[in-house]
Amino acid sequence: MKKRVFSGIQPTGTIHIGNYLAAIRRWVIAQAEYESIFCIVDLHAITVPQEPKLLKAKNLEMAAILLAAGIDPGVSVIFVQSQIGAHAELAWILNCIIPMGWMLRMTQFKEKSQRQKEQVTTGLFDYPALMAADILLYRTNLVPVGEDQRQHVELARDVAERFNSRYGPTFELPEAVIPEVGSRIMGLKDPTKKMSKTGDEEGNVLGVLDSPDEIRAKIMKAVTDPLREIRFDPDRPGINNLLVIYELFSGESRAAIEQRFAGKGYAQFKAELAETVIEGLRPLQLRFRELMEDQRYIGRLLEEGAGRIRPVAEETLSTVKEKVGLGLPVLKGA
Ligand code: AMP
Ligand code: TRP
Repeated sequence: MKKRVFSGIQPTGTIHIGNYLAAIRRWVIAQAEYESIFCIVDLHAITVPQEPKLLKAKNLEMAAILLAAGIDPGVSVIFVQSQIGAHAELAWILNCIIPMGWMLRMTQFKEKSQRQKEQVTTGLFDYPALMAADILLYRTNLVPVGEDQRQHVELARDVAERFNSRYGPTFELPEAVIPEVGSRIMGLKDPTKKMSKTGDEEGNVLGVLDSPDEIRAKIMKAVTDPLREIRFDPDRPGINNLLVIYELFSGESRAAIEQRFAGKGYAQFKAELAETVIEGLRPLQLRFRELMEDQRYIGRLLEEGAGRIRPVAEETLSTVKEKVGLGLPVLKGA
């Protein structure tokens, strides 16, 4: 049996090159080898305030980006999380076996809640339980994500083990698959923090749909350092991040890259980086524009995707309910 891959992405903010390099692009490769399911997680999106009309539009745009990047709906499933009710239902049941202590350790919640303070909802706290439900519903083996999601996937695995040991073998134990290079693309303006979809300062985030001029401008203004030496070095976060981006878009080896730019200035490196990124994103951007011309087509694909896997989700959920003892017993009488 082929192993199963599941991953998700939030339909919010700017879809950026971190999402693309660590997640989306790797999903495209994974689908050739594994049975793959990709989920647009709008229920996760509403853990922070969203504009209702915009959110629906974002679901569509997100689907178009995934398709434009090369997710093949004839091979993989793409669907919108809220269209399968089992996600929220399983999340509730898992809530009831997850110790609070596990959730209190989640670093992403700590960071996000510090940034938001008075806005923090119960949903934001509970986010990892919903993510565990997403993963466990489909008997997932592999979860390709960026570094920031490692802890959440480990929690899903712990939840699966706990459920299995309490109620008997039920869930597969999922494993995070995180790239060796580019698992954490940093901001262009603040290379000490990861590039993130929302709340970043102008010019920090490089969007996959940014125009060539925007890409050039942002890269030329990216923060580096006064050392004037173009070398991979994790202790120099600015230049290191730009080099990692160059490496991933060009496919060249580190040695070749360092040699190519030896003795050259940052301006020249940045100009070449910008052109490499522009070329790397061009096919995606072209297909994206074409796809958005026929929104009904995208809508149909999403409906079909949900239709294809809903039975899997429902079967898992009903097994879980049975094991937990929810619903009615076998009834006597006529
Ligand atoms: P999100 O933006 O939270 O919906 O994340 C979607 C996917 O992109 C997840 O697999 C994340 O781990 C990954 N991701 C998000 N930000 C970055 C980043 N700055 N560098 C690498 N991967 C990222
Ligand atoms: N929390 C993930 C993120 O923000 C998105 C996500 C939701 C996900 N459910 C998932 C990723 C299941 C992998 C598997 O990046």
